[in-house]
Amino acid sequence: MSSLREGPATVVRREDYAAPAYWIDTVDLCFDLDPAKTRVLNKMRLRRNPVVPAQALRLDGEELNVARVLVNGAGCSFKIDGNQLVLESLPEGHEPFDLEIFTICVPEKNTQLMGLYVSQGTFFTQCEAEGFRRITYFLDRPDVMASYTVTLRADKSKYPVLLSNGNLVDEGPLPDGRHFAKWVDPHKKPCYLFALVAGQLVAREQHIISRSGGKHQLQVYVRPGDMDKTEHAMNSLIASVAWDEARFGLPLDLERFMIVATSDFNMGAMENKGLNIFNTKYVLANAATATDTDFANIESVVGHEYFHNWTGNRVTCRDWFQLSLKEGLTVFRDQEFSMDLCAEPSARAVKRIEDVRVLRTAQFPEDAGPMAHPVRPDSYAEINNFYTVTVYEKGAEVVRMMQTLVGRDGFAAGMKLYFERHDGQAVTCDDFAQAIADANPDSDLARLLPQFKRWYSQAGTPHVQAEGVYDADARSYTLTLSQSCLPTPGQALKEPFVIPVSLGLLSADGQQLPLQLAHWTHAEEGSRTLVLTQASESFTFVNLDSAPVPSLLRGFSAPVVLECHYTDAQLLTLLASDPDPFNRWEAGQRLALRRALLAILNEGPVTTEPLDGAFIGAMREVLRHPQLDAAFKELVLTLPSETYIAEQLAEVDPQRVHAVREAMREQLASALQDDWVWAFETHKDNGAYKPDPIGTGRRALAGLALGMLCVAARHTGDAVWPGKAYQHFKNASNMTDRFNALSALVVSEHALAREALTRFHALFRDEALVLDKWFALQAGAPDRNGNVLPAVRKLMTHPDFNIKNPNRARSVIFSYCSANPGAFHRTDAAGYLFWSERVMELDAFNPQVAARLARALDRWKKLAEPYRGAAREAIARVAAKPDLSNDVREVVTRALA
Ligand code: ARG
Ligand code: ZN
Repeated sequence: MSSLREGPATVVRREDYAAPAYWIDTVDLCFDLDPAKTRVLNKMRLRRNPVVPAQALRLDGEELNVARVLVNGAGCSFKIDGNQLVLESLPEGHEPFDLEIFTICVPEKNTQLMGLYVSQGTFFTQCEAEGFRRITYFLDRPDVMASYTVTLRADKSKYPVLLSNGNLVDEGPLPDGRHFAKWVDPHKKPCYLFALVAGQLVAREQHIISRSGGKHQLQVYVRPGDMDKTEHAMNSLIASVAWDEARFGLPLDLERFMIVATSDFNMGAMENKGLNIFNTKYVLANAATATDTDFANIESVVGHEYFHNWTGNRVTCRDWFQLSLKEGLTVFRDQEFSMDLCAEPSARAVKRIEDVRVLRTAQFPEDAGPMAHPVRPDSYAEINNFYTVTVYEKGAEVVRMMQTLVGRDGFAAGMKLYFERHDGQAVTCDDFAQAIADANPDSDLARLLPQFKRWYSQAGTPHVQAEGVYDADARSYTLTLSQSCLPTPGQALKEPFVIPVSLGLLSADGQQLPLQLAHWTHAEEGSRTLVLTQASESFTFVNLDSAPVPSLLRGFSAPVVLECHYTDAQLLTLLASDPDPFNRWEAGQRLALRRALLAILNEGPVTTEPLDGAFIGAMREVLRHPQLDAAFKELVLTLPSETYIAEQLAEVDPQRVHAVREAMREQLASALQDDWVWAFETHKDNGAYKPDPIGTGRRALAGLALGMLCVAARHTGDAVWPGKAYQHFKNASNMTDRFNALSALVVSEHALAREALTRFHALFRDEALVLDKWFALQAGAPDRNGNVLPAVRKLMTHPDFNIKNPNRARSVIFSYCSANPGAFHRTDAAGYLFWSERVMELDAFNPQVAARLARALDRWKKLAEPYRGAAREAIARVAAKPDLSNDVREVVTRALA
């Protein structure tokens, strides 16, 4: 990856895929672990791939010192060509041969956290996508699958725990206070799934007997002080094992399954076979230190990595262009897992709304910006730049549409066929779609498969226009759906997509109407999924006594922008009565968005009252509703984000967007004051802490209410609610309540905020993940007089700040640049200057984190002046730096194109 800092980056193309010239059948690795000088002896058994013309063996390697190369036990000549070791005179013929390579690497100098590195005195590895080449020379590509034997040797007192993939087959003492452990992985795997861990760790352990009778040992390894934060991760793992077996018939195929937490990690977690390595953020939790959101994230990330054991590991990717084969599918699976753990249907809907919110605020902008790429990309300069919301979240939506088209049972049958065909193989997205279609030969998916697969090849978010005409004489309603998709880089023209549109019809007073298409013999109750395949299609519903209100794209049945000229009255009907909770929420969002856009696009200063009585009244109805869940209420009462609002505009003035949303929030805070008081008082007490959907929803609503009451108090100058917030902060029995109260004070900028922040820091000075929250809250605070940027610069000099730690860097720098638009987009361009400095600073030691930050200015072309010109200049400043990594170079080059 990124150490290639000379010359232009080479672009890798999907169409250039060629099978490897050699196979590696077995790998025997022996590590002498030392932070300053780790010796790696790599003994491989290789053979030529008979279907590929004879050629030299080219092994990938990066930042390695070669000490010795032996072929069949004898020295041989080799050359180093850039990042490859080339062997030209290998034995002829197709007999296997032995290759032994002895290299040295320096883990303590590995700041990019790819390959073998040290975190707080413990060795960890991260090999996906191309990190294994930083450990030893290898065919570092996912279609080369080998059997691994790994021996670890290290000082016993410093590194008492020695872990690798598979089963522990031997261990024992060595001279000089050293010891060893030998691990054998019973499953063949690509090298990106290799892992080792060595250090001082303790484990929570649990033995389970699976549904099919298999006995397994589950372990969660953490640093000694963190044992009291491992219960939730373990419970999530146990639930994951049970779920995959129950829902998809996929059992755990290992005797031992380990999770290890590290505080230095570029991403969320990694599914190494039998030895998952996690960012501490997605493992450690207890009521005192983690919020409800943290608990939910841990459940879904533990599930995600576990589910990779089948979707990713047993069946892996042929090449990295197929990344969504495992990531899109596994995100879909973890979403389904979290939903299936909800007892109530309404809690499932809440999870769906949250997932769609992520898709629309992060993936839709990506799809409309300079980094837009298909779910299965066609080319890349740096693969690490393609671990994106498009590959993950949009990829999951594509899988979800397949399930919608073939039904839940049909999809399970498709998964079964996929594993029957491809277990143990490295395959493509086409292979997956083909298996789902072949298992459902009579489905729309099978009928439309080539067209459906445009979701994999075409970038961009389709727009669907809906137009309804009621004919009173014919008692019919004709719905015309049209689709279009804007050009994206390298793709000027788009062919129509296959778009499943789930819908229902309501009467003006909110009754669900029977659905009967003209050619049907009878009507159906509830929802129906239409499949749009043409640029434009009409559907006529009959036997309707009055003009219906269409409820379209129920459950967000396709990742599209739905444009429908709803009247306010229709949206109010949907908000009050749609039986589909997603569309009920969506109607509220549309009402709010409409008001935001009106206030933004109006001439003159921002109005202090963007909201009208009808909207406020409808929000009050939802808030006070006797049947709706607290979690759902909290979602409805939360206004669309500034990022989402900005995406709807042709030209964005971030300050105006911010000001309008603030005005809306303040108006909603004041107008519903009594209702917020009621909401807070009736939801604040929840007994013993349990991060389940009910408790989580109640705390979320109480938190929102408290925040609103503090916002309202800012205007009246009233001190009661800030005082209550401070009390609540001090007396809270869990982190969710404590943090919500703290943030109510910080966001309303009350004088008590300082005191609360100081107290919070003192309470949690030894809890790294809690300090991340403390930093993030301040870097994300509202900006009144340009005060946030100086505060951020000051936070970077705080003794607890460390830019080398990705979580901490994200908590300050990303919270400011990516999550605080009102403070980041300054008319004096100082935010952009800060951004460019940090991108270049980070790039010198961690290109992956730097390239993520580089994407904060993706949407610069949409900005109004003076922002646009200043943003361009800042990006150009980064691009002009001569020794950029491939990672950052690719992002800024595409941004300026
Ligand atoms: N496969 C991991 C996951 O579960 C992501 C690893 C990505 N790491 C990287 N350096 N690109 O999503
Ligand atoms: Zn994944």
